[in-house]
Amino acid sequence: DLSGSYCGGIRKRSQRCYSYVQPHASYKVAVLGAAGDIGQPLALLIKMFPLVSALNLYDIADVKGVAVDLSHCNTPSRVADFTGASELADCLKGADVVVIPAGVPRERGMTPDDLFNINASIVKTLVEAVADNCPDALIHIISSPVNSTVPMAAEILKQKGVYDPKKLFGVTTLDVVRANTFVSQEKNLRLIDVDVPVVGGHAGITILPLLSKAKPSVTFSDEQVQELTVRIQNAGAGSATLSMAYAAARFVESSLRALDGDSDVYECAYVQSNVTELPFFASRIKLGRKGVEAVISSELHGLTDYEHKALETLKPELKASIEKGVAFVGSFI
Ligand code: NAI
Repeated sequence: DLSGSYCGGIRKRSQRCYSYVQPHASYKVAVLGAAGDIGQPLALLIKMFPLVSALNLYDIADVKGVAVDLSHCNTPSRVADFTGASELADCLKGADVVVIPAGVPRERGMTPDDLFNINASIVKTLVEAVADNCPDALIHIISSPVNSTVPMAAEILKQKGVYDPKKLFGVTTLDVVRANTFVSQEKNLRLIDVDVPVVGGHAGITILPLLSKAKPSVTFSDEQVQELTVRIQNAGAGSATLSMAYAAARFVESSLRALDGDSDVYECAYVQSNVTELPFFASRIKLGRKGVEAVISSELHGLTDYEHKALETLKPELKASIEKGVAFVGSFI
């Protein structure tokens, strides 16, 4: 079986796998912000994927050393480095997937508005370049606050006339990764069996793990639900880099498998959505050759009272974050 997942588990027979799957390696992935604390380990993990033929690394900081280092790994993809704005277009040409961890993490003394204004400007520039150079690529946005940077990116792509809602994603995989890990620890389950959908958004109370929909089915007391929910929501209090890189790599791998024709790929992600009245919402999606193939709404039915209340409570905050992202672009017109 060669369809296994690197991020889902360690594969054995790796050497044989690489040589076997090499003919299929045909996708170009660009990482923007590749010199950063998330970008570097993310690039390493992507370098391991047999479906990747070209890995383009871009940063405003010098990324040559990272690229040379990675290029020595004997996996199929060719690594290239692109430093500074003048090399951005070349980095993006022909990309199938563009991952954006560029930005600044939240630092002491920084208000959420400060963080938003800095990162929004960075993401704006990068998404404009994506629109100009690889408008058909899947765009994975990691730069925070995702609740706002994704709707902002959508507005930019609309202005450029290339917006395809099926191809723009806020990466929320870390919430799912954390939820799966914590639930498996709590219930002593094999990690590989655990699947917890996480919906809403990607900050604080907008992150809503649906513990009642976990697979396998598990029961928790009300206190445990409250405790676990808050733990999943606040796990990122210190900035995550390695687990974020792992989670982002898993989302890249899923996207590539879907692009390559695997018809059974599901992930949670923050996308344009009509499962609630909000225009953007994270929920489980089915990925296909053209990006989002379906937004799954069924997991929002039959919620517990706790989940229902939490969903209604998060909506105003998420709505405000979406409006902030849209307004940011409006301020440039
Ligand atoms: P970092 O500061 O270590 O790396 C950011 C990189 O982006 C740096 O190499 C910097 O040179 C680069 N950069 C800055 N402006 C750029 C531009 N205009 N074009 C290209 N590259 C540019 O930060 P770190 O820890 O890697 O975090 C990156 C972003 O990811 C932050 O916004 C952080 O808040 C966010 N984050 C998101 C998570 C998620 O779950 N979505 C989880 C953790 C962090």
